[in-house]
Amino acid sequence: MSGALLGAAGCSSDSPSALRPKGPVAGRISALSWFMFGLSGLITLVVFGLMVRGLFSDGEGHRFRMSETRWIALGGVAMPAVVLLALSGLTVTSLHETDGPEPGSYPVEVIGHQYWWEVRYPQARGGPVTAANEIHIPAGRNVRFTLRSVDVIHSLWVPELGGKTDLVPGRTNHLTLKADHPGTFRGQCAEYCGLQHANMAFLVIAETPGDFQRWLSEQAAPAADPGAAAGPAAAGRRDLEQLPCAGCHTVRGTAAAGKVGPDLTHFGSRRTLAALTQPNTPPNVSRWIADAQAVKPGARMPPIALTDTQVSELVAYLRALR
Ligand code: CUA
Repeated sequence: MSGALLGAAGCSSDSPSALRPKGPVAGRISALSWFMFGLSGLITLVVFGLMVRGLFSDGEGHRFRMSETRWIALGGVAMPAVVLLALSGLTVTSLHETDGPEPGSYPVEVIGHQYWWEVRYPQARGGPVTAANEIHIPAGRNVRFTLRSVDVIHSLWVPELGGKTDLVPGRTNHLTLKADHPGTFRGQCAEYCGLQHANMAFLVIAETPGDFQRWLSEQAAPAADPGAAAGPAAAGRRDLEQLPCAGCHTVRGTAAAGKVGPDLTHFGSRRTLAALTQPNTPPNVSRWIADAQAVKPGARMPPIALTDTQVSELVAYLRALR
């Protein structure tokens, strides 16, 4: 299932790896972890070598003899102190270099919800842009994330682009990431936040600056109007405005202005459904609307009694929201 989903989402590989960095922050983290791995490997070899020597030698006849006290002072205190100091120095420098607010970075706000991601673009021209579970960013440019949560602690992690940063209720955290080239990167909530923590994933879609601005202006436009004429999409719009859907969801340009669930203004343009739980296809949307709890137990979308006709009208309308 996940393979098919990632295929549909356009990812190049099944599992995003922090060891395949696609940006400078991830590159720095990866270099540091390889260095630590190499150094600890070396120390392990030296320690095992000394142990083997101790096992098979009677201690006589060696050119270099050291008192036990000196062994302990050098091998047990001085060496670890030097190694740990050097590693913490490198760690602090890396942290400093990867976490500063970069001048000219592009601001994106991410708000964690059980179990999905709200994404806002404060610098979008032509209207407020609020997306969900897909974070479009300009490639080759630092992106400064402002991270908040409305409920519990979540953590934003895009292994190929950088480290994790928590989204903490009542706090505002920041994270700077950059993708070297256009591409699609899978991200995941990295802090246990409840029953559907594992299904709280997202995509980071890095685009050329031109493609990114095009996407942004499409998203800034109000929702597509299916017209007043008869037809399933127009009926779906009336359903959405009149049924409890409108209490939670916003579709800009309609009476639906709820603030609890994801903004659906351009729902049809998204690749996946319910934070990457499923590809955004009509049968999946239909199942989700009819019984979200069967698809993602514990999700905040409550069951609503709908007729089959209402479900298919809503699916037709949501598909049209490109
Ligand atoms: Cu959100 Cu785990």
